[in-house]
Amino acid sequence: MILNASGCLDALTAPAVARELDAYVVKTVTLEPRVGNPQPRLAETDFGMLNSIGLQNPGVERFCSEVLPRLEELGIPLWVSVGGAEATEYAEVCARIGERATVHALELNLSCPNVDPAAEGAAEIVAAARAATKAPLYAKLSPLLPDVAGVARSVLEAGATGLSLVNSLRGLALDEWTLEPKLGRGVGGYSGAALRPVALAAVFICYEATDGEVPIVGMGGVETGKHALDLIAAGASAVALGSILFRDPKAPERVRGELAEELDARGFKRLEEARGVAHRPQSD
Ligand SMILES: Cc1cc2nc3c(=O)[nH]c(=O)nc-3n(C[C@H](O)[C@H](O)[C@H](O)COP(=O)(O)O)c2cc1C
Repeated sequence: MILNASGCLDALTAPAVARELDAYVVKTVTLEPRVGNPQPRLAETDFGMLNSIGLQNPGVERFCSEVLPRLEELGIPLWVSVGGAEATEYAEVCARIGERATVHALELNLSCPNVDPAAEGAAEIVAAARAATKAPLYAKLSPLLPDVAGVARSVLEAGATGLSLVNSLRGLALDEWTLEPKLGRGVGGYSGAALRPVALAAVFICYEATDGEVPIVGMGGVETGKHALDLIAAGASAVALGSILFRDPKAPERVRGELAEELDARGFKRLEEARGVAHRPQSD
């Protein structure tokens, strides 16, 4: 299953790209509208990109009345990413969106590096969201967590259906001459190629910590079918494309084709057969 990473594709301006995905993941929606962080919000680095969008979104009310109906017209399964400053905010957004027939899952953004973190811990937020909706809930975790396995277990105990791994790292780039931060907010989210081994490790650790029994969406620097296969071998059941979509809008179709070739070359008949193979005991 190939998805986009939340915030990296606008399906309303690029519907043909979104239709190449198995599901479209909407940019994070919060209870109240958010104007986002000061400009500039994007910067290139030698090995990936920095962003500090700051969860700009119209708020759940306008999302439901203006955006969601237009997304529903695309006829593709939708996942909606949900954010908030408190557990009650997450819960209210989940309650308002979760039961829509077109919304196949909610992804709880527990890890945005560009806004102040919520007051409660990840498990409390998941428990509040779980009480508010029956929809499948994916907990999106940060690559900066010192104990990602422990947090993964706690959010699953609190009612999460699966995990989305990972959000962006934290990064900073300075202007060559003024030496001031290139991003308006200073520090931002760091994504792309440099995130690949970090994401791979998070997926590997969480697959092991959950005995391979929960769905995991792997993301972070995926640019080719081989990168996607690596995440699947580490334990992902689905893969999301993020920063690559800014450079290559044809990435969903291309990565899907490359992934099929990579699986075939190794004798895997189905993607599921490759899941978790990195965990097989090494032969002597
Ligand atoms: C411009 C931009 C906006 C993003 N917005 C969101 C967001 O709204 N919610 C979220 O959970 N993640 C957001 N992310 C993080 C991505 O979903 C993804 O986790 C991260 O970029 C790692 O994947 P990548 O290396 O393939 O880009 C954003 C990333 C970028 C580059």
